Amino acid sequence: EAAEKGGFDTYMLKEIYEQPTALTNTLIGRLHDETGEVNLDINLDPASFKRISIIACGTAYYAGLVGEYLIEQLARIPVEVDVASEYRYRSPLVSENTLAIVVSQSGETIDTLEALREAKKHGAKTLGVINAKGSSMTRELDDTLYIHAGPEIGVASTKAYTAQVSAMLMLALWLARARNTLTDEQAKELLHAARELPRLVEEALAPERVEAIKKVAEKYAHARDYLFLGRGVNAPTALEGALKLKEISYIHAEGYAAGEMKHGPIALIDENLPVVVIATESFLLEKTISNLQEVRARAGKVIAILSDGDTANAVHADDVLYVPRAHEMVSPVVNVIALQLLSYFTATALGKDVDKPRNLAKSVTVE
Ligand code: G6P
Repeated sequence: EAAEKGGFDTYMLKEIYEQPTALTNTLIGRLHDETGEVNLDINLDPASFKRISIIACGTAYYAGLVGEYLIEQLARIPVEVDVASEYRYRSPLVSENTLAIVVSQSGETIDTLEALREAKKHGAKTLGVINAKGSSMTRELDDTLYIHAGPEIGVASTKAYTAQVSAMLMLALWLARARNTLTDEQAKELLHAARELPRLVEEALAPERVEAIKKVAEKYAHARDYLFLGRGVNAPTALEGALKLKEISYIHAEGYAAGEMKHGPIALIDENLPVVVIATESFLLEKTISNLQEVRARAGKVIAILSDGDTANAVHADDVLYVPRAHEMVSPVVNVIALQLLSYFTATALGKDVDKPRNLAKSVTVE
């Protein structure tokens, strides 16, 4: 087993560090930024869909939420995202013009598989964003976009998540190209930004950054609760950050869209509450910074995730974790790395078994 972990203490840490390679494999040969072409080898007509339904569980569901934002923003098609256990029982509105996209690392999660069958039964075309080759879902889907992240052993998903989000970005671009919702210039810029992801994630894993995250994790490891805030395409990043932390450290954590804080979670803020605010470069950054100041004003401990070089906003935070600058549309992939490591070092500081967290299974094949 030690050999399989390739020198790392845990599978989870190994898989966190595998992300630059995993993402290279997800993206390779599919995006052509010189020509603006997206070649996903999918045998469905991207121009034929009037509506998209994304269906998944757990971390894959959060990748779906990023997908919703990207597809609506870039390809201008209405998207809804459901957790599979809800979708399968709510008589969803489906027609032949619906594309149902299921997102699943294992391709075996029973709720997602049943939701896929439900979508098919009502006439939807079905596409999977899947990691495991030849898994049950891939045998029933009309087509599969493999994420090629390689086997994921750690129960808490890391490299599959960033690969899923990258796949959602590629799908958004594929749909956008077919529907002509982007200029050639915009498409080339986004394709280029996507192709930079392996390099940016590599940079996000630089030793000095990892060390800084470890220090912050240890500083707050005895917190009872944690709050994660983010906006826009990074609102799901906040949800994923909270999920990761509770899964492996057992600290109660909530993720919220930053603007929603005033409608509830603000009541929880006191000097014992660490609040992670994803405040990287964005057209909404000013609004996020004002949320961050609201946390500060109530004595909450602000851990700000800022873009490299943003010293101006650092003054508002108790702790700052800098992440590489990235195009906003690809930034969820880069920003989540810091949150994965924050959870990881919190859990290890508390002596938890991160590869086998209590009560959780890697793949849930019973309802
Ligand atoms: C379990 C795992 C999660 C995963 C979810 C969906 O709950 O612990 O890490 O996100 O299942 O799994 P899937 O294989 O469908 O992506």
